[in-house]
Amino acid sequence: MTSTPYKLLFVCLGNICRSPSAEGIMNHLIKQHGLEEQIICDSAGTSSYHIGSPPDRRMTAAALRQGIRLEGQARQFQRADFEEFDLILAMDKENYENMLRLDRDGQYHHKVKLMCDFCTEHKDREVPDPYYGGEAGFVYVIDLLHDACRGLLKDIQTRLG
Ligand code: 4NP
Repeated sequence: MTSTPYKLLFVCLGNICRSPSAEGIMNHLIKQHGLEEQIICDSAGTSSYHIGSPPDRRMTAAALRQGIRLEGQARQFQRADFEEFDLILAMDKENYENMLRLDRDGQYHHKVKLMCDFCTEHKDREVPDPYYGGEAGFVYVIDLLHDACRGLLKDIQTRLG
């Protein structure tokens, strides 16, 4: 691994459900593998709806049942994040498109990927928005993100050597 940490940013709409969960799960795996010095995670939302809010209570409960603690306060994705992070993971295609709209000349296009591109067990192409649904949706998000985070960690380890 290189000495400069590899910086990951997880992005959804509100930054209170899916992206803080991705961040929490990824941090859990990073700790398990002793890679805290090598990989750093953050999360953001494309909207301004929930700026300053903690992760959603229903999402936090579903994560905690799997031993994952969700932390942080929602913030909005900003153009400077393209420069700051090495890899930016969009939870769905709308988040992906909304970010790329801020990258008018396509300079950072290569840094932005869909989170589900890293799934190895699930066939989903997007992490579904659980906000207006029931408990099962939150449980599914955790399960899907576990799959994606495992694949993502493997990919980063291969790429960084
Ligand atoms: P997230 O979920 O994008 O996974 O944080 C949502 C949170 C809030 C809203 C939509 C999705 N909302 O419409 O307020």
